[in-house]
Amino acid sequence: MNELSLHILDICQNSIKANAGLIQIIITDSVIDNIFKIKIIDNGFGMDKKTLSEVSDPFFTTRTTRKVGLGVSLFKMAAEMSSGNFKISSTKNKGTTIIATFQRDHINRAPLGNIEETLIILILNEKNINIYYEHNYNNKKYIFDTREVRNALEGIPFTDYNVILWIKNNIKEGIINIQKEESV
Ligand SMILES: Nc1ncnc2c1ncn2[C@@H]1O[C@H](COP(=O)(O)OP(=O)(O)OP(=O)(O)O)[C@@H](O)[C@H]1O
Ligand SMILES: [Mg+2]
Repeated sequence: MNELSLHILDICQNSIKANAGLIQIIITDSVIDNIFKIKIIDNGFGMDKKTLSEVSDPFFTTRTTRKVGLGVSLFKMAAEMSSGNFKISSTKNKGTTIIATFQRDHINRAPLGNIEETLIILILNEKNINIYYEHNYNNKKYIFDTREVRNALEGIPFTDYNVILWIKNNIKEGIINIQKEESV
């Protein structure tokens, strides 16, 4: 996959399948440390030890429709191919956490890509889960939290066309703004 946001979408779809009510996505983009880090935390039903030990293996899946589960192993591979590392931890009935670290300037490190599109897809998911998105760029931070937006919307649904446009724009602009050079 040539965009990290597509990996994020894939990983979050596992969280949705695991009945998570909240997914937290935390991006840390640090020029000084030369690190691009993606942390995804869900409060879904988690995995037992056996499943967890098999999950990074491309020939493992609990799906019945096809034998190969690729989401987790592809994400792991993407991190490892850019001199990064990958950690997954999970507790049955508590949730799952994935941390993928990339060498920021590595030639194989894909760009984040269209994260607002990924977040919209997740927000519009029929299970109505909450999404907390935090994007750190050097020492600046942008946060998008469906729980706050839901309150502000006072009953207008997330599916409203203007709401979708507003959310996309807010995320896009929010990330651009924290990446702007400090004018001295
Ligand atoms: N967040 C999670 N919570 C609970 N179980 C998970 C989670 N993420 C992965 N799993 C377990 O690990 C398995 C492998 O996940 P992976 O995303 O690699 O493949 P898949 O979802 O089965 O198939 P694919 O992603 O290719 O459609 C899943 O089938 C599921 O059993
Ligand atoms: Mg999957």
